[in-house]
Amino acid sequence: MLLHGFLEAVWFLLPAGVANMAPVFAARLLPGLDWPVDLGCIVRGQRLFGSHKTWRGLVVGITAAAAVFALQQVVFAQSPAIRAYSVIDYGGQSWLLGAWMGAAALIGDLVKSAFKRRGGIAPGRPWFPFDQIDWLLGLVLLTYPVVGLSALFALEVIGVGLVLHVVAHFLGYLLRLNASAI
Ligand code: CTP
Ligand code: MG
Repeated sequence: MLLHGFLEAVWFLLPAGVANMAPVFAARLLPGLDWPVDLGCIVRGQRLFGSHKTWRGLVVGITAAAAVFALQQVVFAQSPAIRAYSVIDYGGQSWLLGAWMGAAALIGDLVKSAFKRRGGIAPGRPWFPFDQIDWLLGLVLLTYPVVGLSALFALEVIGVGLVLHVVAHFLGYLLRLNASAI
């Protein structure tokens, strides 16, 4: 039962999780394309989002999420076992929902950065637990009108996503992709 809930959350989280990680790899591969989302805009002495939030990250993250969702649709159509772990009907949705899941996660990340900047926290400095749950809050809140998750499953998604984020971020730290361990 516990394992079933965990796997259900992981399967649901895949597009958003990939969207949240993709910008880190994109920054490594395309370091020159770092146009900031806020276009350098300053609000009360601080950048709106900061130099670490780029259009490159948004485009690559949203595209990756749409691609992952499209793959999930193929697997959903072919595997009854996977259907048992699906809280949404992947067959009845467009790949655009995957793009929206990625956008939702990255909008959550952007809003979090705006709060960090208002609090005078420099880009890249840790802000626990908001750096870990920003993408989950974005995902749950912004996809609610389309997928209508139950409150219990939304909490499950946030809990599982938090654990996955901490583990993935620590692995990234060991691989020198992230500057901080958390
Ligand atoms: N990134 C990006 N564009 C985005 C989001 C992230 O290019 N929209 C890249 C940046 O290279 C960033 C890295 O992914 O440094 C890690 O992202 P994240 O941890 O979300 O940002 P922080 O560096 O912690 O910056 P902030 O303090 O604004 O959260
Ligand atoms: Mg960060």
